[in-house]
Amino acid sequence: MPRKLFVTTALPYANAPFHIGHMMEYIQADIWVRFQRMRGHEVHFVCADDAHGAPIMIAAEKAGKAPQAFVAEIAAGRKPYLDGFHISFDNWHSTDGPENHALAKDIYLHLRKEGLIAVKSVEQFFDPVKAMFLPDRYIKGECPVCGTPDRYGDSCDVCGSVYAATALKNPHSVLSGATPILKSSEHYFFQLSSQRCLDFLKRWTNEPGRLQPEVLNKISEWFKVDEHGHGGLADWDISRDAPYFGIEIPDAPGKYFYVWLDAPVGYLASLKNYFDKGGAKAKGESRSFDEFMADPAVEQIHFIGKDITYFHTLFWPAMLKFSGRKVPDRVYVHGFITVSGEKMSKSRGTGISPLRYLDIGMNAEWLRYYIAAKLNAHVEDIEFNPDDFVARVNADLVGKYVNIASRAANFINKRFAGELRVAGDAGALAAEARADIAAIADCYEGRESGKALREIMAMADRINTDFDAAQPWLLAKDAARGAELQNVCSRALIGFQRLSVLLAPVLPALARRVARELFGLERDFVWSDAEAAPMRIAPYRHLMQRVDPKQLDALFEAPPEAAAAATPIALPPPGGEAIAATITIDDFAKLDLRIALIVACEKVEGSTKLLKLTLDVGEARTRTVFSGIQSAYAPEQLVGKLTVMVANLAPRKMKFGVSEGMVLAASHADDKQHPGLFVLEPHAGAVPGLRVR
Ligand code: MSP
Ligand code: ZN
Repeated sequence: MPRKLFVTTALPYANAPFHIGHMMEYIQADIWVRFQRMRGHEVHFVCADDAHGAPIMIAAEKAGKAPQAFVAEIAAGRKPYLDGFHISFDNWHSTDGPENHALAKDIYLHLRKEGLIAVKSVEQFFDPVKAMFLPDRYIKGECPVCGTPDRYGDSCDVCGSVYAATALKNPHSVLSGATPILKSSEHYFFQLSSQRCLDFLKRWTNEPGRLQPEVLNKISEWFKVDEHGHGGLADWDISRDAPYFGIEIPDAPGKYFYVWLDAPVGYLASLKNYFDKGGAKAKGESRSFDEFMADPAVEQIHFIGKDITYFHTLFWPAMLKFSGRKVPDRVYVHGFITVSGEKMSKSRGTGISPLRYLDIGMNAEWLRYYIAAKLNAHVEDIEFNPDDFVARVNADLVGKYVNIASRAANFINKRFAGELRVAGDAGALAAEARADIAAIADCYEGRESGKALREIMAMADRINTDFDAAQPWLLAKDAARGAELQNVCSRALIGFQRLSVLLAPVLPALARRVARELFGLERDFVWSDAEAAPMRIAPYRHLMQRVDPKQLDALFEAPPEAAAAATPIALPPPGGEAIAATITIDDFAKLDLRIALIVACEKVEGSTKLLKLTLDVGEARTRTVFSGIQSAYAPEQLVGKLTVMVANLAPRKMKFGVSEGMVLAASHADDKQHPGLFVLEPHAGAVPGLRVR
């Protein structure tokens, strides 16, 4: 019976491109998914951008973009990574999609109907300088549990505790540096501490096979209540006050779902989007999204990193359970990938850039192999070690595996017109390998990819040993021993096909070439091909390059901007900030800067910062631009002057109207200490519409 699998990876925040930690998670899940597909199971593998939350809202604002546009740009950059590393998602969506808005509200309304939503007035940190409630991530202080300084306001990544920001010791606002003040507002809570939730979660988490033992241990710590009644699960604050980029809470004007409420719902939203587009139908699933999710035989499996265990093993199953939905069947938690022991994350720098890896011509399957070789089913961190990477890829993939084909195929093609023939029964050959193949399948199933690869390489060793022991190069010199030569080489190549099938979840592109080019199949390998004996082989064409250690130097070589930033400079940075990262001429060419005539200018009613400019850029119409220069210019100083504007900036809706571009002005990074704003003006002779290049 084919299994029906709904598989996800964590939804990455849409505020930065992928780093190698994301790729590691996708590679782990992709290997598992490809293995299942090869076994004939029905898999729906989806992901999405996690679009909401205060950090994204603030980052978008800083970039001068609407959050939707900001997120869309990040999303548009995903494809080269996913294709480049052969990640076979069936769908990629966004938590800001309409499906997610509808599903999140629906789940919430069910929870409310169940009596699991409470409204409480909450004293919360408010930044008196920025005049807004501070999101947890914008407050830092000492962890209330382990005392580590400089922790974020929602959780501690040192001891794994989750807490309220107000519990932090010595807090400060990351946005302004000010000490936040307490201010109260109504918040919505999901009553996780209710007996019903506790009973359910204890049952759900303890279901055999559901969670890894170390994850279960961690959860039992979270459940524990000490002799003073401290600890245990607390109700979960699921609302945030406007301004917030998120989903509005039904019947609660000005209140939005906290991003972690709607983020996991994004798993369902992406699956629904894919079903509604006909994606599942194309995979042989004829039912609707709702019918599919109502099927108890469907297995729902989430791959995640250890830092988000709490959300996925407590909040998420409880949300699903009490909204009457299917609960996750398994949550597979992995550790972190580090480079030279440094944890990689957005905040601490990314170590190795996945795109740079591809750009300098490194083979994506080397990284897939290396990561797979290091991974197991436990929540252990793995380290990217460049010397180890070179050694392992070259010794295993090229030295042991590819080598078999390159040596044996030449004899078969030159001497036997490509025909494979073994002495005796080829079927018996397959039977010998059956137990090994089954053991390797168990490894993949259990996410023990490191063990699977060790066993596959042991198989490759045996094939090489047999081949060498038969000394085919001597057999080839003796015309009378042709049958022996054909037998030895055929056995090696049948073994090579087997290895290729077993490696296919890890090396999908290479396996596809082997299947099609070398063994003449008109399809990709399926798992049962591991026991098949091919009859023919096409001429061998080069399959895989060795890693050149110089490539690793290039991978780690500090890009020019980092090198420049690293050189100690005694002088203060120009204009109060360091020169930004280097861009290429192509990056610059994206900017369309034009000479503009300021035909009219007025103060904006109700704003102390903005001037409203009417600009002529040589088009048939004029443009309206709002510019924050009121502190430096009286409107009449500007009328009739030429300036420079960004003419291809996406129009931006502001409180006072739509701004159709931006005029350029110079200022110091710290405009409080160094006030002054200077609008640019071209030398005499320039006319509106000329491009600045
Ligand atoms: N947006 C949330 C997840 C919401 S899921 C409903 C989030 N995003 S993230 O971009 O920060 O992380 C996405 C995934 O990458 C998480 O599973 C996280 O654990 C994983 N990793 C982030 N850094 C990592 C490493 N250095 N190594 C391995 N995985 C890591 O959390
Ligand atoms: Zn801590």
